[in-house]
Amino acid sequence: MERAHFASKILVLLLSLSVVMVVVESGIGVNWGTISFHRLSPETVVDLLKDNKIGKVKLFDADPTVMRALMGSGIEVMVGIPNEMLAVLSSSTAASDLWVSQNVSRYMVKGGVNIKYVAVGNEPFLTSYSGQFQSLVLPALMNLQQSLVKVNLAGMIKLVVPCNADAYESSLPSQGAFRPELTQIMTQLVSFLNSNGSPFVVNIYPFLSLYGNSDFPQDYAFFDGTTHPVVDGPNVYYNAFDGNFDTLVAALTKLGYGQMPIVIGEVGWPTDGALSANHSAAKAFNQGLVKRVLSNSGTPLRPGVPPMDVYLFALLDEGAKSVLPGNFERHWGIFSFDGQAKYPLNLGNGLLKNAKQVDYLPSRWCVANPNRDLSSVTNHFKLACNVADCTTLSYGGSCNNIGEQGNISYAFNSYYQLKKQNPQSCDFDGLGMVTFLDPSVGDCKFLVGVTDNNSLSFMLNGRKTIFSLFIFWGFGMFFM
Ligand SMILES: *[C@@H]1O[C@H](CO)[C@@H](O)[C@H](O)[C@H]1NC(C)=O
Ligand SMILES: *[C@@H]1O[C@H](CO)[C@@H](O)[C@H](O)[C@H]1NC(C)=O
Ligand SMILES: *[C@@H]1O[C@H](CO)[C@@H](O)[C@H](O)[C@H]1NC(C)=O
Ligand SMILES: *[C@@H]1O[C@H](CO)[C@@H](O)[C@H](O)[C@H]1NC(C)=O
Repeated sequence: MERAHFASKILVLLLSLSVVMVVVESGIGVNWGTISFHRLSPETVVDLLKDNKIGKVKLFDADPTVMRALMGSGIEVMVGIPNEMLAVLSSSTAASDLWVSQNVSRYMVKGGVNIKYVAVGNEPFLTSYSGQFQSLVLPALMNLQQSLVKVNLAGMIKLVVPCNADAYESSLPSQGAFRPELTQIMTQLVSFLNSNGSPFVVNIYPFLSLYGNSDFPQDYAFFDGTTHPVVDGPNVYYNAFDGNFDTLVAALTKLGYGQMPIVIGEVGWPTDGALSANHSAAKAFNQGLVKRVLSNSGTPLRPGVPPMDVYLFALLDEGAKSVLPGNFERHWGIFSFDGQAKYPLNLGNGLLKNAKQVDYLPSRWCVANPNRDLSSVTNHFKLACNVADCTTLSYGGSCNNIGEQGNISYAFNSYYQLKKQNPQSCDFDGLGMVTFLDPSVGDCKFLVGVTDNNSLSFMLNGRKTIFSLFIFWGFGMFFM
């Protein structure tokens, strides 16, 4: 213990002397997830990226329609491998060869896709997975690396493993360490990453610290200074992001890789479905983050060195995601599901521009029929909300105050749009009716769906996002 401690101090010293020489190019990218009832066509989304000069995108799989739309765009792509595929990829080189040929090699042609990273698993060490993917990660990495070598792509494409920030913990950044049960696997992982020139990819969510802990100082989650700075020896932390980032730097340092480049795989703020999830908070967080990253100021343990790449979570809302983490989970987009900017945000190239050529369904909505007795509506309401998305109705949500009839109308409409405005889907035993007057009330928007052909594909590649609160972290930061 004492030795490791001493060694880490020396390494921190060495680190602060040497990082100054590391030159990295920084840039803001986005996560493009597709678990939505109303999917924009991939071409529309790629145009949206181009119009906004977003040059980096992170995917959670390798959907061929998405990959095809990215061809020739020049956009740098991180392709994803879902956790569910780790078992087969870790046990069979034939499977990994096939994955690489089908999902990488075929796009590595002139006018193809600019694949830079392959994300092997998504937060596979998450505490709530209880270790089920843990032993698969390294073997899958080895197989995939061999597969890349065989087709001469290992130099161009780097394998990475996006980790949730729950992989490490500490009350003070300088004391950061990986979770004890992960020490061995993390040692192997960072050694693998280092020998292949790959960065460490981490997902950092100050929102979850705030959401999960009412004592978490609100201003510490943002970037405008705080009345609760964290004093860590000579270093003072004014925001949770920097504190979390340096906890990872310290954890890497303890393993002897204090200089490993770090990529932020996911970071962002949701806009609905919880009290602190709203447009002004999301704008403040995301704009503060972008300014901080583009200023190249770095953190106390890596002064002057920003994260290599930062991928905002997320590009678009994903209304069909599991709400296990919370009702906010479907509202992380900087754009709504239909590619409309939710609030003014500047990623470095001017304010966000909306998607063009969005194919909406006709302007009509399904609402509760005001001339009917709605006392028997409960089951219809439940059914509609179980299938479609009613998360904005929840406490803290944008539609929480629209009254009982408003609630019913919202649920009916959400279901009706999901069913592509099929007339039968607005029946509800005669309790529903179609209207041509927009029933939206103030900030509570009643959506009109977009037409697409892929509305069910999310079920085939449904990404599981399981919740983890950084309670330990949150408490540590506050009570230190
Ligand atoms: C390629 O990726 C897609 C999408 O993630 C997946 O469904 C498919 O199984 C992969 N191909 C192989 C051969 O593993
Ligand atoms: C939005 O969230 C922030 C952060 O929690 C909170 O301070 C603010 O009061 C919220 N604004 C509204 C309008 O609810
Ligand atoms: C509307 O639904 C939400 C979510 O179920 C609930 O919190 C709210 O109390 C409801 N409003 C009325 C007036 O029933
Ligand atoms: C739906 O599919 C048809 C035929 O495959 C295609 O022509 C059309 O553009 C698609 N529509 C959308 C909105 O993607």
